Amino acid sequence: MSRRPVNPARRFADGGSIPFVGSVQSKTRSSRLLSIGLLVVGAILLIGYLHSGSDGSIREKKALSKTEGGSSCTLEVLRALPVLKKAYGDSMNKVLHVAPDTCSVVSKLLKEEDTQAWGVEPYDLDDADVNCKSLVRKGIVRVADIKFPLPYRAKSFSLVIVSDALDYLSPRYLNKTLPELVRVSADGVIIFSGYPGQQRAKVAELSKFGRPAKLRSSSWWIKYFVQTKLEENEAAAKKFEQASTKRSYRPACQVFHLK
Ligand SMILES: *[C@@H]1O[C@H](CO)[C@@H](O)[C@H](O)[C@H]1NC(C)=O
Repeated sequence: MSRRPVNPARRFADGGSIPFVGSVQSKTRSSRLLSIGLLVVGAILLIGYLHSGSDGSIREKKALSKTEGGSSCTLEVLRALPVLKKAYGDSMNKVLHVAPDTCSVVSKLLKEEDTQAWGVEPYDLDDADVNCKSLVRKGIVRVADIKFPLPYRAKSFSLVIVSDALDYLSPRYLNKTLPELVRVSADGVIIFSGYPGQQRAKVAELSKFGRPAKLRSSSWWIKYFVQTKLEENEAAAKKFEQASTKRSYRPACQVFHLK
C-alpha cells in the first residue's frame, strides 16, 4: 500500500477550478457537499496512511510483543544491522544468526542485497508464523539445541551473530557452545547479551528456555573470554563503536566481538 496523504488544500483548489454554474444557493450546497466529500477522502487517506505505516513494522512489533515484559537482544540485532554492516563490511555476506526468534533477523538479512543468511533457533517454534515455517522448510532456519555441536562445517559462515541465547546457558554449556560458534565462523562471532538487571522472559516462558536468563556483567564476560582463551576482536569493536556514534546508535544490549 503506497497511498500517501494528499494535501487537502490542493484537492480543494482543484475542485474549485471545476466551473460550477447555477444559483448562489446551489453553489453553497455544492461547496457543502464538497467539504463533506473532502472530509471522507481525508479520513480514507488517513486510515490508508496509518495502515501502510504499520505494515512495515508488524514483524518487529510481533517480536517485541513476544518478549513483552522484557527487552530482547534479538530485536536489538535488527536495530544494529546497519551499524554491523558498516563495521564488518564484506563479512556480513554470509551470516549465521543464533537466537530465539531468529526468523525475524534472517528474513530481514535476506532482503538485503549480497547477503546470505541462516538461522539457528535454539528453542521450539510452536508459535512460528507462515514465513518462519517456510524458512524452516527450506533449511535456512534450523531448530537445534545449541548445547550440542552445530550441524555445520568449520568456517561455514563469514560471521556468526548470537543474541539472547547464551544468557540461558550455564558456564558448563557456554564452554561447549561458544567454541562451536567460533568454529563455524570464518571472520568472527558477535555476542548480543542482556545487561544484568534487565527483565527477560516471562515466567511462562521459562519452561521453554529451561532456566531463567542469567544476565552477566561485562566484566564477567571479559573474564570469561580470557579464561576460555577467546580473543576479542578489538579492531571490529572499534569500528562498531565508531559506526554507532556516527548514527547516534546506542545498543540496549552488551555487544562483544570475538575473533
Ligand atoms: C570452562 O572452561 C574454562 C577454561 O577451559 C575452565 O576454566 C572452567 O572451569 C570451565 N567451566 C566449567 C563450568 O566447566
